[in-house]
Amino acid sequence: MLPAYAAYAMLSLAPILVLGVPPIWTQPEQVHLSYPGVPGSMLVTWTTFNKTESKVEYGVLGGRLFDMAATGSASLFVDSGEEKRKMYIHRVTLTGLKPASAYAYHCGSDAGWSDVFYFTALNDSTSFSPRFALYGDLGNENPQSLARLQKETQLGMYDVILHIGDFAYDLHEDNARIGDEFMRQIQSIAAYVPYMTCPGNHEATYNFSNYRNRFSMPGQTESLWYSWDLGSAHIISLSTEVYFYLMFGQELLFKQYEWLKKDLEEANKPENRAVRPWIITMGHRPMYCSDDDQDDCTKFDSYVRLGRNDTKPPAPGLEDLFYRYGVDLELWAHEHTYERLWPVYGDKVYNGSTEQPYMNPKAPVHIITGSAGCREKIDPFNPNPKEWSAFRSRDYGYTRMQVVNSTHVYLEQVSDDQYGKVIDSIWVVKEKHGFSAWL
Ligand SMILES: [Fe+2]
Repeated sequence: MLPAYAAYAMLSLAPILVLGVPPIWTQPEQVHLSYPGVPGSMLVTWTTFNKTESKVEYGVLGGRLFDMAATGSASLFVDSGEEKRKMYIHRVTLTGLKPASAYAYHCGSDAGWSDVFYFTALNDSTSFSPRFALYGDLGNENPQSLARLQKETQLGMYDVILHIGDFAYDLHEDNARIGDEFMRQIQSIAAYVPYMTCPGNHEATYNFSNYRNRFSMPGQTESLWYSWDLGSAHIISLSTEVYFYLMFGQELLFKQYEWLKKDLEEANKPENRAVRPWIITMGHRPMYCSDDDQDDCTKFDSYVRLGRNDTKPPAPGLEDLFYRYGVDLELWAHEHTYERLWPVYGDKVYNGSTEQPYMNPKAPVHIITGSAGCREKIDPFNPNPKEWSAFRSRDYGYTRMQVVNSTHVYLEQVSDDQYGKVIDSIWVVKEKHGFSAWL
């Protein structure tokens, strides 16, 4: 029998013994893919809350499971919220994949493995006709389009997903637990096809740190801006937020602008534009929109379109730059609606012709698709849109795009409110690309 004092000491320790044992968090979660931009590669990113090794075991689908393996590394991310929650973000790049081959994989370490997922390595041929789903403004709460996107992605309808800013609402909330749950929500899409992103205003808290740490886009900018090629398209992802959050560094705005110029110059070299004639941009806040909410795009002198005069030196906008380098298609979100614009430059419409506006358009085509679903619901429209507004919808939904070949791109809008009905579609047809196509 224990002496009375020893029993008393143990009893007084009991609450500590019960409460003081933290769980072990070595199980991988929040698995998602991204394309590093190098043919034959795929990057797997996931989270654990205790430190583990970072391994992916994989194999050709239908062959022997996990006969190949790759290792990577984990970086510690400490959220800036009160609790300073810690997580390890693991990144492993698979290389030497056979284009268009399907692979099964799991990720983790000997301390815990994920479920088995599969993906198809992106086809690196310039005659490949990739199919995209694209949208912005998808949140943890009221993610109305998510179930349809999950099913369609798993059915193999998409090669790539583009999420054009505003995630989770917001990634950092509840000490980044909302971010964790959102990344779990999109796993059933993002673990199967590359999930390519750009930052939006909802990522701004703590200088975009949840966004920068959780995603793994190509290049060295912590996913803020980058470009990559697929099929006959050169795709540029950018941060419109550099025009609004000057407190995080006005130099970012100029840095991105210089990078965009260089990237567009390179993409326009005759030998490059000949094989990747389509230049498609994605950025969160549009240059134009006809919503009734006082956002930047509702103003004639939108920062994104025309730049800012209140910085030193004045900051150039993007419209002239994109026009000069013959950007064909500009994808935006932020407005919680869908809007298709006629080919537009300088606030004026430049249709190819009256009968066929998108056949050899004389200015870039803009699509705004921010109605995937979030807690902020749908935005109202201005009852008197300008003449560049071609089609508008306040249904929840998302956009499908196929870059069919060097002359044809197809876009359609899916309404989730109407159970998946296609409510808008266009063919953009261009026999000529680049600045000279406008003349
Ligand atoms: Fe936004």
